[in-house]
Amino acid sequence: MKNQDLKIFIAGHKGMVGSAIWRHLEKKGYTNLIGRSSHELDLRNQGAVIRFFELEKPEIVIDAAAKVGGIWANQEHPYTFLMENLQIQNNLIEASHRFECKKFIFLGSSCIYPKMAPQPIKEEYLLTGALEPSNEGYAIAKIAGVKACEAIRKQFGKDFISLMPSNLYGSYDNFDLESSHVLPAMIRKFHDAKESHRPVQLWGTGSPLREFLHVEDLADAVYFTMNSDMEGHLYNVGSATEISIKNLAELIQWIVGHQGEILWDSSKPDGTPRKLMDSSRFFELGWKPKIDLETGITNTYKWFLSNRDQLKEVKFK
Ligand SMILES: NC(=O)c1ccc[n+]([C@@H]2O[C@H](COP(=O)([O-])OP(=O)(O)OC[C@H]3O[C@@H](n4cnc5c(N)ncnc54)[C@H](OP(=O)(O)O)[C@@H]3O)[C@@H](O)[C@H]2O)c1
Repeated sequence: MKNQDLKIFIAGHKGMVGSAIWRHLEKKGYTNLIGRSSHELDLRNQGAVIRFFELEKPEIVIDAAAKVGGIWANQEHPYTFLMENLQIQNNLIEASHRFECKKFIFLGSSCIYPKMAPQPIKEEYLLTGALEPSNEGYAIAKIAGVKACEAIRKQFGKDFISLMPSNLYGSYDNFDLESSHVLPAMIRKFHDAKESHRPVQLWGTGSPLREFLHVEDLADAVYFTMNSDMEGHLYNVGSATEISIKNLAELIQWIVGHQGEILWDSSKPDGTPRKLMDSSRFFELGWKPKIDLETGITNTYKWFLSNRDQLKEVKFK
């Protein structure tokens, strides 16, 4: 399926993930991309989604639209995260099925796997144990999406597929200190501390191990998936590289050019000691990530510097 004229609907094309996919497909020569902001098309509204598909009839649909938020937002609004994500994905999946789209790519995240899953996490660990309670609603919605794609494959033989990326970072990330993920939060903290000549205070001991994937690598994985016939319905997509939070902090400190101390507040929780996905099933198909952490963080910091005046407009969760 390597036709540059294919009509591709990227749901969530204004988000960090969707916009990276849009740029990547444009670079690869695709000329018929379509996107709608949530103001133009509220994907929770089934009637509006059906009318949009009836009119546009996209041939490929990439679902990068979701109600996304940090731990606090998930804990305070569990119903919203469960219900809005179910509505968005159900409407997209059903309309893609009804209007015979050729391929549907569903994006979830590693939170679908049990909290105590053995490491590295394999796809078959899905539904083998209890989830992390803080974002259970979000995870259950994503699991329902994975299962809907699996069921459509089984019942109708359609090419609906789910990709589960590890922690993502890159341009258009969320750098808001209250709601951001660990990597962009550290970039922000080291940058602010450099400007004010202060030390940086970080939570925990720095010992947990984490895996990060540049969002442009994920966009390339989506492009690869679009153009591959894959037997399975669910694939983990990570970098297969682990780094301790302490080493990550030191790398970011060096890239940002902060000279002061790093103070670790060990009275604060560390979180899960290790979170690594086993992406070998996807790698065996012939795909590999290309952006190492040092290059990726350097580019992300450059993006942050050029966009920091309008960060809230760019992204705020
Ligand atoms: N960020 C990560 O580290 C990470 C890691 C693993 C997986 N993922 C997955 O990647 C996907 C996208 O995440 P992201 O980080 O790109 O999130 P994001 O930046 O918040 O983007 C989400 C997008 O969804 C759209 N959206 C939300 N509600 C909508 C609605 N009711 N109708 C229409 N569009 C709606 C938003 O549109 P508007 O901007 O127009 O409102 C936005 O473009 C999610 O499924 C997430 O689980 C992300």
